[in-house]
Amino acid sequence: MEIRIFENKESLSRAAAQYFIEVIKSNQKPVLGLATGSTPLGMYEKLIESYNDGKVDFKNVKTYNLDEYCGIDENHEQSYRTFMNNNFFNHINIDINNTNIPNATGDLDVACELYNSQLNENEIDIQVLGIGTNGHIAFNEPGTPFGSKTHCIELNQKTREDNARFFNSIDEVPTHAITMGLANIMKAKKIILIAIGAQKAEALRKMILGDVTEDMPASILQFHPDVVILTDREAVKTLMK
Ligand code: F6R
Repeated sequence: MEIRIFENKESLSRAAAQYFIEVIKSNQKPVLGLATGSTPLGMYEKLIESYNDGKVDFKNVKTYNLDEYCGIDENHEQSYRTFMNNNFFNHINIDINNTNIPNATGDLDVACELYNSQLNENEIDIQVLGIGTNGHIAFNEPGTPFGSKTHCIELNQKTREDNARFFNSIDEVPTHAITMGLANIMKAKKIILIAIGAQKAEALRKMILGDVTEDMPASILQFHPDVVILTDREAVKTLMK
């Protein structure tokens, strides 16, 4: 694992975007693995800026998102489809038909199977990850088997509390989601994980220095050959003790 510590969100986001730009430029048909949440927003802003400056072209890009809430329509203001359209896809020249997010509104088993077969046919060149305060990556909560593929999960209470800030109240936060599994994520050729702020410090410490255990899903990344962690001083405070 390579760890890069940044002084501010601006420089971190620029560096994160640069990894994606390099992959897009060096592949004829790049496949990107994307995430939602607060963490990657700065990176999406920088990618949009680069697109507007003519520095990157998304015409041949295909994307796969990590996860989607179950039980809310894709047009719901808090669906991850809406998030991605509003914060990224609507601002670049990507073909929207090349953007993939699990369909969590119909038959969930069918949706998971379909997503897995798409991921088998399309190797992800670069995947961006955030990390939950409980160590989840995508929505693989503590206890998820390392061999898991795309599946439907029950969100744990801590994750619902963390995400309640996007909803009117915690009662509105969906209880389930479809998520790529840990085995899907580990197949990505390159992974960048972004962790910003003191609230991520404990999870980050366990991920990097702790045992590799299903109780800390992100710890599986210790076994991936090409992971870069982009972080700030607040998040690495407990690492430096
Ligand atoms: C989002 C995702 C989650 C988030 C994590 C951190 O698609 O899969 O694992 O990356 O919950 O969320 P934020 O960035 O909001 O702190």
